[in-house]
Amino acid sequence: MQQLNIAFIGGGNMAEALIAGLRGAGHAGDQIGVSDPQQARRDYLTEKYAVSCVQQNINVVVNADVLILAVKPQQMQAALKGLSEHLSPDATVISIAAGVSTASLHAWLSAAANIVRVMPNTPALLGAGMSVLFSDADETHKLRTEYVLEACGECLRIEQESMMHAVTAVSGSGPAYLFLMAEVMQATGEKLGLNAEVAAKLAAQTVFGAGKMLAESGRSAEDLRHQVTSPGGTTQAALDAMYDAGVPAGVRKAVVAASKRSQELS
Ligand SMILES: NC(=O)c1ccc[n+]([C@@H]2O[C@H](COP(=O)([O-])OP(=O)(O)OC[C@H]3O[C@@H](n4cnc5c(N)ncnc54)[C@H](OP(=O)(O)O)[C@@H]3O)[C@@H](O)[C@H]2O)c1
Repeated sequence: MQQLNIAFIGGGNMAEALIAGLRGAGHAGDQIGVSDPQQARRDYLTEKYAVSCVQQNINVVVNADVLILAVKPQQMQAALKGLSEHLSPDATVISIAAGVSTASLHAWLSAAANIVRVMPNTPALLGAGMSVLFSDADETHKLRTEYVLEACGECLRIEQESMMHAVTAVSGSGPAYLFLMAEVMQATGEKLGLNAEVAAKLAAQTVFGAGKMLAESGRSAEDLRHQVTSPGGTTQAALDAMYDAGVPAGVRKAVVAASKRSQELS
């Protein structure tokens, strides 16, 4: 896998997360190409990751074994224009654009392209991403995609593309739900007398520690919640107040709303 030539169209935030992961996993900088319209962005990526950056998309497509489409969904159709004749028939084409279907990618690029659709999330920026892939291309293309995604976190496959809306609602948008929780915990800690710096640290490390327990303990969220809730204690008082205020129902509504919005946008 380390011999693959990996090309990015679009050198923004998510591309940088994947590049950082790949470089950290030992993928050579001269095996990674990036095309981006911004000179400043190209200079930054070249300086920081020793990758080769170009302005014209065609120049990275020609040698690509893996082509990663990392532009905004609304930029995708224009970015793919005229590329198919320069793309190797064996290349893997990975799209990380939210809501852009495999059918659209085939229509805009080529019916024969080996497309893999991926939903990553922002913790990929720190190597702690959760990515989900869907593809009806051959196994080789899925394995190559896993190689790229596992360099910046964990990766799962789904078998039905329609499940991408639920994936978007849980892991794609999910970090924001936890940021909101941390924001409220911090603000209320301040109201109760903690200074801002202490309250921010307590909220951040608590979300991090709870996430780590959930990811690494092998126990369910429900189990862990019961474990820290003594009857009649402080946590019990807090959870009772959360149920009274409709917090679980609100989160349920939020996840459903994100899934619906994902369907509308696609
Ligand atoms: N960030 C997230 O949380 C997240 C999570 C899951 C999925 N995604 C998906 O990841 C993709 C990239 O998101 P991002 O946050 O990394 O966006 P971004 O930071 O805006 O990066 C996109 C980059 O592509 C460049 N670009 C625009 N048109 C281009 C073209 N025709 N050819 C080559 N490059 C072009 C943009 O340049 P300009 O600035 O000049 O337009 C920009 O530098 C999106 O499709 C998004 O849906 C993002």
